[in-house]
Amino acid sequence: MTTEFRRFRKLRYNSKIRDMVRETVLTKNDLIYPLFVTHGENIKKPISSMPAVFQMSIDVLIEECKEVESLGIPAVILFGIPGHKDETGSEAYDDNGIIQQAIRAIKKNVKNLVIIADVCLCEYTSHGHCGVLDGEEILNDESVEIYAKISLSVAKAGADIIAPSDMMDGRVVAIKEILEANGFLNIPIMSYSAKYASAYYGPFREAAEGAPKFGDRKSHQMDIGNSNEALREVTEDVFEGADIVMVKPAGPYLDIIYRVKQELGLPTAAYQVSGEYSMIKAAAKMGWLDEEKIMIESLTGIKRAGADLILTYFAKDVAKYLDKQK
Ligand code: PBG
Ligand code: ZN
Repeated sequence: MTTEFRRFRKLRYNSKIRDMVRETVLTKNDLIYPLFVTHGENIKKPISSMPAVFQMSIDVLIEECKEVESLGIPAVILFGIPGHKDETGSEAYDDNGIIQQAIRAIKKNVKNLVIIADVCLCEYTSHGHCGVLDGEEILNDESVEIYAKISLSVAKAGADIIAPSDMMDGRVVAIKEILEANGFLNIPIMSYSAKYASAYYGPFREAAEGAPKFGDRKSHQMDIGNSNEALREVTEDVFEGADIVMVKPAGPYLDIIYRVKQELGLPTAAYQVSGEYSMIKAAAKMGWLDEEKIMIESLTGIKRAGADLILTYFAKDVAKYLDKQK
């Protein structure tokens, strides 16, 4: 038999050798854990479409953050469920709003955790849209002014990173300017730059109670068929001052993650969103897939595509998995 071929199987011969040559491995520093915070006390309300995900009151949230910290996960991203919704989502920029209270409480009680504030209006508006309305139209510039106000308010509360997820045009520069003008020179902006109008957000809308009362998000979130446009969105956000850019969802948009990382080379985040999580959970519950293996494979794929950071509801499970590997 000829040996004029390469024996690739040599490097797969046993697990030690495979471990030595593996190109992409998940680490705890890749992870950002999303949390949902609500008013009240001793509340830990399950989300039916997202097993193991809860809305938590601040006291419960603190305990959760301590666990996240002790697992070695570097960061959490916070979503607030307000006590009061109105046309302009005013609780979002109330210095005593749910998210501001939560940030202050975590800062006080948990020392080694990066707190990322998600900034969007849809949880806070009575109509569930990510901006203020004129009739059924979502107004861009008026909404951007509010996003600047929210950002300043969460910065004052102690947020370490600000993450605008609204997809209004011009919000990154508006946020950057208001932070600079108020002396917040060290708060990175992690922009949801290429955020698609995705059906994968379905379960999140139960978790964050931010479903639109009419219409959809297609006038601001990206069309699912577009790739070049994602590059334009990301380039613009970087030009405006974004420090970290995000692609969302992650799994169905690996090509976008790849292009963004290749072409801009910036710290790139990807959000494995609620629907991606729930599909894996559901299939595992049916006994159709191995949850742990799929969790690692889906996240390794996202990292291999180019993501430096992954927002995932599996973050705690991944950290526990990595501890088990040692
Ligand atoms: C708010 C927001 C959404 C998600 C994150 N921030 C929902 C949406 O745009 O409708 C989705 C996250 C997830 O599905 O896990 N704009
Ligand atoms: Zn929104």
